[in-house]
Amino acid sequence: MTASRKKLFVKTFGCQMNVYDSGRMIDALAGEGFDSTDTMDEADLVILNTCHIREKAAEKVYSEIGRIRAVKEERRKAGKDMIIGVAGCVAQAEGQEIVRRAPVVDMVIGPQTYHRLPEILRNARNGAVVETEFPLEDKFDHLPAATPTRLRKAGPTAFLTIQEGCDKFCTFCVVPYTRGSEVSRPLSAILAEARRQADAGVREITLLGQNVNAYHGEGDKGRGLAGLVEALAAVDGIERIRYTTSHPRDMDDDLIATHRDIPELMPYLHLPVQSGSDRILAAMNRKHGREEYFELIDRIRAARPDIAMSGDFIVGFPGETDADFEDTMDLVRRVGYAQAYSFKYSPRPGTPAAAMDDQVPEPVMKERLAALQALIEEGQRAFNAALIGRTLSVLLEKPGRKPGQLVGRSPYLQPVNIDAPDALRGEIVDVRITSAGRNSLFAELTGDAATTGRLDSDGPGAAGPTMEAVS
Ligand code: SAH
Ligand code: SF4
Ligand code: F3S
Repeated sequence: MTASRKKLFVKTFGCQMNVYDSGRMIDALAGEGFDSTDTMDEADLVILNTCHIREKAAEKVYSEIGRIRAVKEERRKAGKDMIIGVAGCVAQAEGQEIVRRAPVVDMVIGPQTYHRLPEILRNARNGAVVETEFPLEDKFDHLPAATPTRLRKAGPTAFLTIQEGCDKFCTFCVVPYTRGSEVSRPLSAILAEARRQADAGVREITLLGQNVNAYHGEGDKGRGLAGLVEALAAVDGIERIRYTTSHPRDMDDDLIATHRDIPELMPYLHLPVQSGSDRILAAMNRKHGREEYFELIDRIRAARPDIAMSGDFIVGFPGETDADFEDTMDLVRRVGYAQAYSFKYSPRPGTPAAAMDDQVPEPVMKERLAALQALIEEGQRAFNAALIGRTLSVLLEKPGRKPGQLVGRSPYLQPVNIDAPDALRGEIVDVRITSAGRNSLFAELTGDAATTGRLDSDGPGAAGPTMEAVS
């Protein structure tokens, strides 16, 4: 707008909560005169929003800082400055250590302090600032609301964080330390945000939380996530609701019934189990066994027979034997996942598992991961192939790879490629699935949309902050 506005480049690693937080940081800095850019070279301020979940993810931060330092040098030669911030879970976990290892960093900002960003930024002009407290106030009460322009740019799907932190303390996991204890936002605040999203053209909301189904916010009438989903389904314009990530222990009957009763709740559930071995589940402190998981899935499928299941698995947790690993393979075969993520165990500083005996050698982990991933891929291909010939409703999100193509999401979350006019972007249309690959589906329009193409689409679906998935 005015010449004095500056540029902000945010790069996001890790989970969807970081993607959401990056958006909120952009909003918080808009009031300080920063507009978001996709080009680092022109940025006056660079923020890395980082992930600490596995060693590889955490180490990436330092190579990234190296790259930014080079850009900063170039800018300095041209007489321009650049401020560098590290936010997210590495910021929380490593704090001061980041500035020691990388003195070029001007500010380190823990995930619960983003509402203080303007103040931190002002202080950073007088020397590096490290802000990793867990403040008493809730950042969401103090962050400015998302701007309609940013929401519109992001297209018809949006994330909405409803719960943060974790009290479960699985023995391998850093999240309870990096995000703090479980806090749920009040129902009214979430509804207000969802209404703003809907007004900006959002049709599908994914509710986020490290333990999203442990949600218990003020105003939920004791019904937790089930009550919230029901209230959100009544918001005008919101036609699809998803939530992630759930813990098996928090899947109560009310929430399961919601999958049967609320058509807006999509038939897809990410329900990580981590291992199929009772012995390993106990050592992980997951507090449930494999049979309980099978029974839970039976109950969910009884409520919503077509539900697509997704999960996370860790191979090579300390002490995992071939027999334990076979139990995981067996569990995957029995459940039949539509998709799943799997990781080699990564010892994290300060977690109980990192100090356990019997760490599994790297080559064994590698072999197990390859076997598990092949099995998961087989299941995924079978799930996708079974949809060929079916008619599904797809929310058309953004341009496809080829001109004249759009990409959307099926109810089961697969990307669907389709020849469709741009005017249909933001619409939910019926399509017939014509073929299927490992990760995506191909389809053709059916019914009205095939011939007309409604014209009330919601503008360009430009990219939000850059996202780099960690695996
Ligand atoms: N709250 C979610 C998980 C959040 S972390 C849950 O309880 O399921 C996302 C995934 O990263 C986890 O499900 C787990 O599979 C993986 N993960 C977490 N810590 C890990 C570690 N130390 N090594 C390897 N994978 C890990
Ligand atoms: Fe980590 Fe376990 Fe909490 Fe999930 S439930 S965030 S794996 S400690
Ligand atoms: Fe998410 Fe990584 Fe933190 S998975 S909660 S950004 S450690």
